[in-house]
Amino acid sequence: SQDPLVIFTPSGKRGRFPAGTPVLTAARQLGVDLDSVCGGRGICSKCQITPSYGEFPKHGVTVQGGALSEWNKVEERYDRVRGLKSGRRLGCQAQVLSDVVIDVPPESQVHRQVVRKAVTQRDITMDPATRLYLVDVQEPDMHEPSGDFQRLGEALRTEWGIERISAPLPVMSRLQPALRKGKWQVTVALHKGHRDDHHRVLDIWPGFHEGRLYGLAVDVGSTTIAAHLTDLVTGEVTASAGVMNPQIRFGEDLMSRVSYSMMNPGGAAEMTRAVREALDRLAAEIAAEAGIEARDIVEAVFVCNPVMHHLLLGIDPVELGQAPFALATSESVSLDAAELDLTHLNPAARAFILPCIAGHVGADAAAVALSEAPEQSEDLVLIVDVGTNAEILLGDRRRVLACSSPTGPAFEGAQISSGQRAAPGAIERVEIDPATKEPRFRVIGSDLWSDEDGFAAATATTGITGICGSGIIEAVAEMRMAGLVDDRGLIGSAEQTGTARSEAQGRTHAYLIHDGIADGGPRILVTQGDIRAIQLAKSALYAGARLLMDEIGVDEVDRVVLAGAFGAHISPKHAMVLGMIPDVPLDRVTSAGNAAGTGARIALCSVAARAAVEKTVRAIHKVETAIEPRFQEHFVAANALPHATAPFPNLRG
Ligand code: FES
Repeated sequence: SQDPLVIFTPSGKRGRFPAGTPVLTAARQLGVDLDSVCGGRGICSKCQITPSYGEFPKHGVTVQGGALSEWNKVEERYDRVRGLKSGRRLGCQAQVLSDVVIDVPPESQVHRQVVRKAVTQRDITMDPATRLYLVDVQEPDMHEPSGDFQRLGEALRTEWGIERISAPLPVMSRLQPALRKGKWQVTVALHKGHRDDHHRVLDIWPGFHEGRLYGLAVDVGSTTIAAHLTDLVTGEVTASAGVMNPQIRFGEDLMSRVSYSMMNPGGAAEMTRAVREALDRLAAEIAAEAGIEARDIVEAVFVCNPVMHHLLLGIDPVELGQAPFALATSESVSLDAAELDLTHLNPAARAFILPCIAGHVGADAAAVALSEAPEQSEDLVLIVDVGTNAEILLGDRRRVLACSSPTGPAFEGAQISSGQRAAPGAIERVEIDPATKEPRFRVIGSDLWSDEDGFAAATATTGITGICGSGIIEAVAEMRMAGLVDDRGLIGSAEQTGTARSEAQGRTHAYLIHDGIADGGPRILVTQGDIRAIQLAKSALYAGARLLMDEIGVDEVDRVVLAGAFGAHISPKHAMVLGMIPDVPLDRVTSAGNAAGTGARIALCSVAARAAVEKTVRAIHKVETAIEPRFQEHFVAANALPHATAPFPNLRG
């Protein structure tokens, strides 16, 4: 008679195996993704499966022709001590006895799917670079002298098929005590990056190590640094934290930091030290917040713009400040976290920095590409990450182009008369009644509009302190829609607009949003200068997008994705009224939230993704806006609201 047939779900992989074959063995032979840390010793419980064809009582009665061996001693003990969920079996203990269908639950898959909480619902497939392995090492023998490390390597080869290992000093020094304490059984954390030809031992524990491994996904922005502590097995974010980038004291924007480094000997090194110290502190804080040992953080992935990238690595960014804007390296960088002075991670932790796309388009844009995957898109997608610089990607399956555009900091509330960063007290939403020309607004930290009951009380603690980037964009767009501003961006006088809120300011006018009388706060106005600043910023953004569209010869895109923390707050309608983005049906404009941070998390969870992003970045066609004469033409035409010549048909009605 034939050997029993085994079918695994959800993979559908199947094969016949001699009766008595452990399920884990069958899974491995078929290439079914079934996890194991202990190598089948019945210790780690990572190999849990659910028999789904027939009934499988614990004490081996065969039902309906399907049976997975008798409940053996190892499983019984595991269940008694640790508790197995009902219906679950240990895949390494249960044996195939007759035809069976076996389900591998998501928790038992190494390459499990992690559902993203972000707006775009593409999932992350786990493929971590660092994993735990339990292994039994041969005891030393005087007659056949070999090092403990070599015997560890030998054991990993025979038991796990791992060809070659290396161990940095912090691990080598702990190897011998761990082996002896564990009675020649140890758990090792092995790391293999996408370009590595061998595994690195990052840590070693006597016996079976119960603990978890974590990684940090870090978005190093010029203003803020945000880190997400991520479980390297489940892909879940355990804790998040952010700090201001301490380099701000050397210059608000990137170019002023580049000039700081040019003007001050040792300036770059100073900025490097500042950002590394902040990252190290952040790592310690986030570990404390999550209640884990910082030593369990074995990896960190960084995304950042080119200047931050160089400063983090300790490379003087001077070349990025002048044409031809050469990067020190355009490939991803893998190194020991210790080389970045990150003392609060595991001493052997690894760091990975995504590749920069070009001298102006950084690893953060690469992370956006990884998160939004334009190279897989069927339709032509324009992805805009708005910050002090706008990074713009345009493409589909056929090709992807990238550029950056010097929008300046106006979209972040800087260079605006009442502007401020997005923080409690800042006006973030504005509406203007087209009939009465009266405004209403909402302030960060309160859910109420300014004309609603309780608004005064809700904002009493923060006060109304200014207007942030999304607030100024909405204000200007609403002013345009209410006829307070003409298509050239000029604010009309009180007579022209019919509202006393239009105040004369020298030869120009300003629109009063909030008089500050009731709350004793500042008067908040939108001045002619503010509108000019927004016009410059939005023209730069639009011109960058147009330049990429020219490059592939199209007049329209199929959809627009607004990325970045800021992108998440801009309303698509207002962005389009201003002509920040090319005309497209409003329902084709989506927000991707912090796509750069998501990209960092994907790279942290998946070696395959690291290889993929490197490939994508290499294939991206880079367009340099600074040297492109058409950029200037597009810029000038984009100055009008929404645009001097482009029709914007989707704004009608
Ligand atoms: Fe570890 Fe089965 S493989 S318990």
